[in-house]
Amino acid sequence: MTAAETGLDPSRLRIDPRRLLARLDLLAEIGAIEGTTGCSRLAFTDADRQGRDLVVTWMRDLGLDVTIDGIGNGVGRWVPDGVDPALAPVMTGSHIDTVATGGRYDGNLGVLAGLEVIETVMGAGVVPPRPLAVAFFANEEGSRFAPDMMGSLVYVGGMALEEALAVEGADGAVVGAELDRIGYRGSAPCPGLTPHAFVELHIEQGPVLEREGARIGVVEGVQGISWTEVTIEGQSNHAGTTPMAMRHDAGFAAARIATAVRDLATELGPPQVATVGAIDLHPNLVNVVAARAVLTVDLRNTDDEVLARAEKRLTAELDALADAEGVAISTRSLARFEPVHFDPAVVDLVESTAAGLGLSTRRLPSGAGHDAQMLARVCPTAMIFTPSRDGISHNPDEHTDPEDLAAGADVLLQVILRLAEG
Ligand code: GLV
Ligand code: MN
Ligand code: MN
Repeated sequence: MTAAETGLDPSRLRIDPRRLLARLDLLAEIGAIEGTTGCSRLAFTDADRQGRDLVVTWMRDLGLDVTIDGIGNGVGRWVPDGVDPALAPVMTGSHIDTVATGGRYDGNLGVLAGLEVIETVMGAGVVPPRPLAVAFFANEEGSRFAPDMMGSLVYVGGMALEEALAVEGADGAVVGAELDRIGYRGSAPCPGLTPHAFVELHIEQGPVLEREGARIGVVEGVQGISWTEVTIEGQSNHAGTTPMAMRHDAGFAAARIATAVRDLATELGPPQVATVGAIDLHPNLVNVVAARAVLTVDLRNTDDEVLARAEKRLTAELDALADAEGVAISTRSLARFEPVHFDPAVVDLVESTAAGLGLSTRRLPSGAGHDAQMLARVCPTAMIFTPSRDGISHNPDEHTDPEDLAAGADVLLQVILRLAEG
């Protein structure tokens, strides 16, 4: 029976929290980090493939039309009987790859909540006036292959497919070869189908909602991101015999960059953040002055002009350091994305929908990068956040209470139904 026949009011529909949590648990078993509740499923690894296989199986079990495109994005589309398949779908989704020391909700929540929403709507016999789709975008994290949000960037035409396929990772692997190896270089075209609208549910990954006791984050945009790889070439020499004044120490220069990056964030003040998250030293031995260091700098700000100032300061620091230590310093941009402002009407819809469900809300920008920031280039887009315990993420201890996961998915459900009416 359809909802019309049963007299069901779609605004009263709620997701099934047990089904959502069960799927989150099952997906989290793949790449589980022993002794923790976290996951390690770096993009295009065997664990990523197993996670993809599971999600694709769930999509097919629901009867969704599943396509995989050339960069490995998976889209499951539901065209209800009687609905014109040519109509652009309302799309939701996120990613299922994780950082190597990831939690179980980052990205996974958005994909599995999208599946749960579609299953709930189908099961109730509600027929939305346009197709619905749920996507898992490839390599959102970017920690193996830069840039982050690679799949959604290619999906919207912001990066050529061939360029993305040729990217070499931190471990020497190449995206295209890895996609072939795991069987996820699909045939659906890139750029992909432009959605009617896109909305992504994600955990906040920061402390604001918990601190302020808000259940739902109404995400107004995403801060700008600048990733730079810095390579320092010095001279290896004996740690005991080389006078300090004669050293060209790549290890020392790397350490100086790490402190300079912290100082520039302190001086520019919030919301500027700055991180040296990876340092690789060669030959990395106790009694050898390091010949070479490769490190990464992650700079972020909601204000692009201040972010550009931070980048300039970094360049000046590197030049001065190269002179002072007698080392050669070169840089390579790994990612550069401007701040994104989400569609005000969709942002308002998230806020009013949450309030209508009796959930307290707080507007905020996203500190983390998200696939939604790429989809915002092509269609009206916004995001829904749920609280993160102690603001911890990119850490196996990442946690969100089950009631908050369910509340976020209920907001997603109602927002999707409203967007489908447009
Ligand atoms: C990606 O998720 C990032 O914000 O680093
Ligand atoms: Mn994420
Ligand atoms: Mn992440």
